[in-house]
This record gives sequence, C-alpha cells and structure tokens, in this order.
Amino acid sequence: MSQHKISPDSPIGIFDSGIGGLTVVKAVQACLPAERIIYFGDTARVPYGPKSQVTIRRYAREDTEILLKHQPKMIIVACNTVSALALDVVEQTAGDIPVIGVLKAGAELAARRTRSGKIGVIGTQATILSNAYACAINEENREFEVVSKACPLFVPLAEEGFIDHPATRLVAEEYLSGIAGSEIDTLVLGCTHYPILRRVIEQITGPGISIIDSAEAVAGKARELLSAQGMLNPGTGKALPHLMVSDLPQKFRELYRLFMGTELPDVELVGI
Ligand code: DGL
Repeated sequence: MSQHKISPDSPIGIFDSGIGGLTVVKAVQACLPAERIIYFGDTARVPYGPKSQVTIRRYAREDTEILLKHQPKMIIVACNTVSALALDVVEQTAGDIPVIGVLKAGAELAARRTRSGKIGVIGTQATILSNAYACAINEENREFEVVSKACPLFVPLAEEGFIDHPATRLVAEEYLSGIAGSEIDTLVLGCTHYPILRRVIEQITGPGISIIDSAEAVAGKARELLSAQGMLNPGTGKALPHLMVSDLPQKFRELYRLFMGTELPDVELVGI
C-alpha cells in the first residue's frame, strides 16, 4: 500500500518492457506538456509478449515498485501485454495511486471510430491469446466483430530501430496481408512498440483502414482523469522526462534520439 504524498506537481509514472512506451511518453508530452514524466523501460527483460502470465505478472509488480519510489500521482501502463494480463497486479501494488492502461483506452477509441463494426487488432502473442482486446471492444458494443493477429517479430524490429527497413516491410506483409483483406475498417496497434513501425504498417493496410494508436488514446484518458481530480500540473515548464532502464542505457539513449528527435535526457540504470 502506498503512503505517498502526491500533489499536482508530482510526476506521471509510465512503464513498458522497453522502448515501446516512448510512444506513450510522446503522446503524453503533446497532450500534457506541463507534466513531469518518470519512465521505466525494462530493457533487461524485453520482450514480454512471448512470456507466461506468471512471469508477466511478476514483472508488472516489480516495474510498478520502481516507479512508486518516485511518488507518482498516476501510473500509465504503457504496455498492452501488462494491461491485458496484469493490470490488477499494478493496481494492487500502486494502492491509492490511479492506474490507467493502454488496452482499455485503445479498445474504447476503436469502438468509437469504427463504422462497419469490424475491427482488427494486432499485438503480442500474450495480448492476442488473452483475448482481452476482443472482450474490451465487446464491452463497448457486443455486435462488433474482432479479427486478431499476433505480430511478435515487430517488437525486436522496433527495438532494433528498423523503422523503415525492407526486413520490416517483408515481415509486415506476411503478418498483415490476411487481416487487411478481411474487410475491417479499423486496425488497433495493440502493442506500444507498433506505432514506431506505423509508416510501414499503413503502406500495407492502405488508406481505407483507420489506424488506432493505443498510446495516443491513453494520453487523452490521462488528461481527463487528472483534470477530474484537480491534479493537472499548473506549471508552464517543459521538463525532460526522467528515464530509467534495467539494461543498456546507452542503447536506449540512441533509440530515444531516433524516435523522439528531441533533446536527450540522461538515462539512469536501475537494478531489478
Ligand atoms: N510494448 C509492449 C506492449 O504494448 C510489450 C512488447 C513486448 O515486450 O513484447 O505489448
């Protein structure tokens, strides 16, 4: 249970298995520029997607504990895999601190956006096998049909910085040609690593399919929740995020430069 003294000036804690959650950092910075951000990327243990539920739940608790040391006012689970299999673990560990996950935000936005009611979802093996997206979308509307596909190789390709690489295009064609031809009008990028490869994904799905980025969806939810609680940071400063990783901080810095294209913050190495 947490006994944190939180205030509007407290940071927002965000975590993911690796660099994927930077897509959430970017979206939160765009939506809430005055907020301070503490980010943890579990680079020693990425990827989470091919691992068992027991392991993912343990990682989720440990990742949350790392963020709690910085007394956040909110935790954003910037990992669909953890959101699908271990959101309750994060909530229990966080105690009174509000927790929001990318998965529900992505599902709600997809349900609002679709016209045909046929929605595609791509994600890690664990996310797709859990069926959590289909359940969350059907909670919005029971009539909606969900077509899912696991795309495990997208995570290492994103971690490698293969943003617009022929290998990424080849893998994307293999994964997406079926789903793109299945009459969906909306496709959820149900893994926060995937927006990094969005350009290649969109080239294959074409202009008729609307792409839902769960990272953008969760940033909007964070703003709503903080505003409802009177916890928006009143400052005007634009602080750099405080970045922490469990391995290879230098590599993380290079990828940060590639994806964020901004001033480089220091990256702290933390033990898990
Ligand atoms: N970025 C994460 C997700 O949204 C996890 C990817 C992984 O570690 O396999 O699911």
